[in-house]
Amino acid sequence: MAVQGWVVAALLFGLLGATPCWSQGPMDSGDGEAFQPQSALSDMEFTTVSSYRGPGNNDSRSNRELPILLWWSAGLFPHFPGDTERIDCARSSCLVTRNRKVQLHRRTSTVVFYGTDFRAYEAPLPRLPHQTWALFHEESPMNNYVLSHGPGIRLFNYTATFRRDSDYPLTLQWLPSLEYLLAPVVSLSEKNRWRQAGLAPVLYLQSHCDVPSDRDRYVQELMKYIEVDSYGKCLNNKPLPERLEDTSTATGEDSQFMSFVARYKFHLALENGLCPDYLTEKLWRPLHQGCVPVYRGSPSVADWLPNSHSAVLIDDFPSPRELAEHLRALDSDDGKYARFLEYKDPRQVVNGLLLEVLESREWGVNDMSKPNYLNGFECFVCDQENRRLAAARAHRRDPGQHPPPEPRMANNSHMGCPLPAPGYGNVEDIPPNDGWLQMWPQDYWQSLDQAEGLGSLIQHNVSDPGLLWHHIQELAVRRAGGH
Ligand SMILES: *[C@@H]1O[C@H](CO)[C@@H](O)[C@H](O)[C@H]1NC(C)=O
Ligand SMILES: *[C@@H]1O[C@H](CO)[C@@H](O)[C@H](O)[C@H]1NC(C)=O
Ligand SMILES: *[C@@H]1O[C@H](CO)[C@@H](O)[C@H](O)[C@H]1NC(C)=O
Ligand SMILES: *[C@@H]1O[C@H](CO)[C@@H](O)[C@H](O)[C@H]1NC(C)=O
Repeated sequence: MAVQGWVVAALLFGLLGATPCWSQGPMDSGDGEAFQPQSALSDMEFTTVSSYRGPGNNDSRSNRELPILLWWSAGLFPHFPGDTERIDCARSSCLVTRNRKVQLHRRTSTVVFYGTDFRAYEAPLPRLPHQTWALFHEESPMNNYVLSHGPGIRLFNYTATFRRDSDYPLTLQWLPSLEYLLAPVVSLSEKNRWRQAGLAPVLYLQSHCDVPSDRDRYVQELMKYIEVDSYGKCLNNKPLPERLEDTSTATGEDSQFMSFVARYKFHLALENGLCPDYLTEKLWRPLHQGCVPVYRGSPSVADWLPNSHSAVLIDDFPSPRELAEHLRALDSDDGKYARFLEYKDPRQVVNGLLLEVLESREWGVNDMSKPNYLNGFECFVCDQENRRLAAARAHRRDPGQHPPPEPRMANNSHMGCPLPAPGYGNVEDIPPNDGWLQMWPQDYWQSLDQAEGLGSLIQHNVSDPGLLWHHIQELAVRRAGGH
């Protein structure tokens, strides 16, 4: 699973451009800060105070007084090239580091994790009562189902996930801007000419086949009732033109490739995992290109679409056969098809939530003038922690005047993705040797064991996360004994 997660991450950021989005730290956004590479705790205490990022930040403390945020997932540390940096956020400042030597330091107030890399058997233990945990997980639920269980997600005090209810939501991370949606399209008359020249009405392009959403099982059934051109490794029935072979897997934004797929009327757009608010380029790219997405992924996708008639939602149809009938009817009725592209006129983008979230988010997608979401979340946590620490100090000084800060922890509304279900049909009808069946439901339930096992390690103040398996076994024995 770890390897798989990294492959997914690599692909994802490959698509975003040559440089990973987190490499554009505050350094690159032109605020003229002097660069301060640091490498160990003693070196952290350098005293220069760098320029402030926000006018609300009047934090005049020296580095040796600042709370420390420790990136446990060091590979994602959003600063380069050093190991430690002072960050000056909207309201306050912190030191951030990926040097694990500070794990048990009294000033280390938060440990930050990348969800895809989070492993119960290598968690920072013992968990100190004064430390909070922060989770960054913008990727697919399939990368780590530990986070989809209550006992897993509740270990975290701050989250940035694709869900709108997380503390620092990343729901529209794959939608760069409103303009991206409004891009010009291949005209309907040209699409019709391509249809006559032999293109199928529907495109499928997928090379990641064994996924929790089990999408191929659905698409395979759909293909019985409507023509689908499938160029990827999954359910392949057509070769890509030679000139495009290299580009299809590596960079989906290649312009030749984009114009090749833009000729199709419909794009099958099925996410690899199903979860509320988990929306990716699978949805936004066809909308950008003006190809109607035939979508399955977030059950709440309608909340984010430009208007009420810009995508065909698979789950609105009782069966693949009925979906195929609907698509064939749209294929042969230009008036009805054209209605699906009305959002290309900005006056037809009427979804208030979509507009508001695009307008108000502080991070940018490939936008150097805004912080990237990794640095944005880091600063969110920094400001929250400074506020909490100040409240705790005030309480210690004068408990009568100042109540202690309320504890906060995440819950299933921050992630909470459901048990993977078959893409088509009932789970009872799937043969026991089926690859999907052997993999994903098991992965889901084993992840629950790991979440509970880690909870038990924390509760018992264990220092060695390697004892996870032992604790999982004990929990199983206790369950079997009816306790
Ligand atoms: C400066 O910080 C103090 C607390 O340390 C706060 O009360 C005050 O409002 C801040 N001033 C500004 C301009 O943000
Ligand atoms: C952080 O979360 C943990 C685990 O859920 C909880 O016990 C702790 O009280 C929380 N800390 C704060 C400061 O809210
Ligand atoms: C879950 O967390 C959100 C805030 O993050 C909170 O509004 C909600 O009440 C919580 N739900 C439960 C059941 O605790
Ligand atoms: C938990 O363990 C740490 C070190 O292993 C120890 O310093 C601390 O006192 C323990 N806490 C409790 C509540 O036992």
